[in-house]
Amino acid sequence: MSKLWGGRFTKKTDQLVEEYTASITFDKELAEEDIQGSLAHVTMLGKQGIIPLDDVDTIKEGLHRVMQKIKRGEIEFAVADEDIHMNIEKTLIDDIGAVGGKLHTGRSRNDQVATDMHLYLRKRVVEFVDLLHKLQSALLEQAKANLDTIVPGYTHLQRAQPILFAHHLMAYVAMFGRDAERLQDSYKRINTLPLGAGALAGTTFPIDRHFVASQLGFDRVYENSLDAVSDRDFILEFLSHASIIMMHLSRLSEELILWSSSEFRFVELDDAFCTGSSIMPQKKNPDVPELVRGKTGRVYGNLMGLLTVLKSLPLAYNKDMQEDKEGMFDTVKTMQGALQLFAPMIATMKVNKGRMREAVNKDFSNATDIADFLVGKGLPFRQAHEVIGKTVLYCIEQNKFLLDLTLDEFKQFSKLFDERIYDVLQPENVVNARNVYGGTATAQVSEAITRAESGLEQTAAWVAEYAERSK
Ligand code: ARG
Repeated sequence: MSKLWGGRFTKKTDQLVEEYTASITFDKELAEEDIQGSLAHVTMLGKQGIIPLDDVDTIKEGLHRVMQKIKRGEIEFAVADEDIHMNIEKTLIDDIGAVGGKLHTGRSRNDQVATDMHLYLRKRVVEFVDLLHKLQSALLEQAKANLDTIVPGYTHLQRAQPILFAHHLMAYVAMFGRDAERLQDSYKRINTLPLGAGALAGTTFPIDRHFVASQLGFDRVYENSLDAVSDRDFILEFLSHASIIMMHLSRLSEELILWSSSEFRFVELDDAFCTGSSIMPQKKNPDVPELVRGKTGRVYGNLMGLLTVLKSLPLAYNKDMQEDKEGMFDTVKTMQGALQLFAPMIATMKVNKGRMREAVNKDFSNATDIADFLVGKGLPFRQAHEVIGKTVLYCIEQNKFLLDLTLDEFKQFSKLFDERIYDVLQPENVVNARNVYGGTATAQVSEAITRAESGLEQTAAWVAEYAERSK
């Protein structure tokens, strides 16, 4: 059989045009969703009396056979058949004969492709929430194991105030929690059915869109047929959320890379997640976080790419929109790779508590606390700040830290100092003094862990429910 749309044409398509316009090399990824959508569509055509029920049965059996053949890798997709939709339809007609041509009644590839992508993305969104959940759990376990580990907290990458390493890790649990929440929220927009919009205006056949929606587990249908076939917001939204996730992963990557350097030696990544150098035998390189940091660029690029494709496009479908797929698939693959590796990498990471403690003992990150001590004695904060600034300068000149100073040395800077400051300056006390909701005190971090655990339970329940719904 020649082209499915060949009737109006008298000449063959130019070979290069055929190759240039085809999308089968990448949209074959949508085969399962395409057949899923077709099965629901043809069931509806039968229910509405648009095509005979015998034909519906023949088409459904044929579609199931095509699916099996695709799964077994028995079908060679043809560029001449342009895309996955026409390749499947052609295979079906080859299999069951002319009756297969009834499948496309009351439907266009425009509403078909949009439906396929909605089906595809809703599954991916659930899988990503699950992957984020796994990463959060790994971070949370490390946090629990490090409730007594004190590490310098940084601003401007300068040591600022000591914090619990658990507190630092829980910050990422919170970030990935928001990421999961964003994906969960986007589900309701993804789970909207475009099918029934036809090419752009609807169809003359008495179709039942709500029936198709319920068959496919969509919560609602697009209200406007033009919007249904033109909307790619749901992909943009996914690409935006993916960009934020990768940005978070990239920040964590950067920290892991820094922390595993000889300068820090705060953590050691497991051998399984590192690679060596072909020339320098001593090296153990943090390739995984480096690559995740690097691959963040292509995910941002895919977002920018699609925003640019859609900019200024008139309604409704334009061939430009075929460019929506590769970036989406690439983002899915890139982010899957990153998240799949990150959870076990965090779980197996060794934390060098001693080295972190050494860093805390050799810094001035307890300076704020003696300023606060002077404030407690009635000195205005600005003056206390000045006094401690001078004290720190003295320490630097003397090559000492605050805990090394004698009380007499302290008293040179303010008479208000007394021996209690040695307690105030202890890192444990500095940490536990920050006993505000969301702060780094052990009691607060323990509560944060408990709250996060119950949040994670809810996410797991959501994943179980929506994985079932998205099949
Ligand atoms: N392969 C096309 C795409 O991905 C399917 C829709 C084609 N529609 C059309 N009117 N040419 O966008």
